[in-house]
Amino acid sequence: MNNHYPDNIFFIGFMGTGKSCLSQLLSDKIGYGLLDTDAEIVKQAGRPISEIFATDGEAAFRRMETEMLQRLKADEIARFVVSCGGGIVTRPENVEIMREMGKIVLLTATVDEILARTSRDRSRPLLQTSDPRKRVEELLTARDSLYRSAADITIDTTGQEPEQIVTQLLHQLTLNSSLKPSSGGA
Ligand code: S3P
Repeated sequence: MNNHYPDNIFFIGFMGTGKSCLSQLLSDKIGYGLLDTDAEIVKQAGRPISEIFATDGEAAFRRMETEMLQRLKADEIARFVVSCGGGIVTRPENVEIMREMGKIVLLTATVDEILARTSRDRSRPLLQTSDPRKRVEELLTARDSLYRSAADITIDTTGQEPEQIVTQLLHQLTLNSSLKPSSGGA
């Protein structure tokens, strides 16, 4: 068992804050496996997220997210970096599961950066609106305290290179785990 890093590392944060890119980079760097809750749900459902939202509704998608996390917990995954869908914090039970399984890293970015990173992507149903800026601002306002209270570590990704962010994160994870060692590690 690695003494420096937590059992699992969960990336949370709004759409377009860099979770997928940084999860990939971090998992490569520390030799952890890589999981993406959206990709797992799509695989399981056999349908894209836009279709799940359109046919079953957002509430059904949220249930799928919780079931996904419950499955990861039941499988006792260890040494994984998990990139989570931006709305994962909207259900308190999700945060509880992630806490039990590892450390939670919140990525943030300015509204302008989020809009720039998501503007050409049609795969996010919540942003398919005539006024994406308004939607982003509303969702951020509704979620900000949920993100902040879930996070063990918070990193602002605005204007930073991915490599730079991962270096900063590795430093913080080491500090964080020496202050709060994970219990029961071999
Ligand atoms: C969502 C974020 C998306 C995806 C779904 C809903 C959200 O994931 O789970 O479209 O509610 O913020 P990303 O944050 O990976 O884009």
